[in-house]
Amino acid sequence: VVAFFQPRRLAGKRVLVTAGPTYEAIDPVRGITNLSSGKMGFAIARAAREAGAEVTLVAGPVALPTPRGVTRIDVRSAREMLAATEPAAAQADVFIATAAVADWRPATAADQKIKKDGTGQAPQLAFTENPDILATVAASQRAVSGRLFCVGFAAESHDLAAHARAKRERKRVPLLVGNIGPATFGADDNALLLVDAQGEREIPRGPKLALARALVAEVAKRL
Ligand code: CTP
Ligand code: CA
Repeated sequence: VVAFFQPRRLAGKRVLVTAGPTYEAIDPVRGITNLSSGKMGFAIARAAREAGAEVTLVAGPVALPTPRGVTRIDVRSAREMLAATEPAAAQADVFIATAAVADWRPATAADQKIKKDGTGQAPQLAFTENPDILATVAASQRAVSGRLFCVGFAAESHDLAAHARAKRERKRVPLLVGNIGPATFGADDNALLLVDAQGEREIPRGPKLALARALVAEVAKRL
């Protein structure tokens, strides 16, 4: 199906999407990250654009082309992602958080490459919790007053529905989308579980772009 035929359900709306992993530096040449490919978030940005929205995509380090007509902001760490996301959220009508944000970062990043000290001892890394970007945005005036519709994602290894319901309440978002596994990271196909105040419904397995279009339609219905 070509973009030309997509109904313009989000015309006049501003949609903000976070996507991909974050990268948290240990030193100038090393860091910790995760296996998020960014594909789902990029597909959602594309689908929202096809639906007529003005789309900003805040992307962690991924090797994916920018969807046509989408404004992309590249970031590396969770804190950079938050700094790029907050001002964009202040202008947005919809925020969709698909990023796999690193929950923790090394407490301090060395400014020079850490060298082996010759004793066979590995460095001891201490970690500190990263800001929760979705929860921060969902707690903003704009979201609380109903002008910004926030959507969270959850990848769980077990008890998806229960975790998704709990996560929806903890993050205080109207819609939480669960990735129905197994192992969706990097895959081109997925299925989604939508959890809102009314209950649950499934978007059946399909290519990520088809799921993204279905999700965009679900979001548009709720605005
Ligand atoms: N999220 C975020 N910032 C974080 C962590 C998560 O914005 N620091 C967002 C993700 O983009 C996703 C949602 O919150 O939309 C849920 O992420 P997830 O990792 O599943 O939840 P956590 O609250 O981090 O809980 P846990 O990893 O312990 O399950
Ligand atoms: Ca997490």
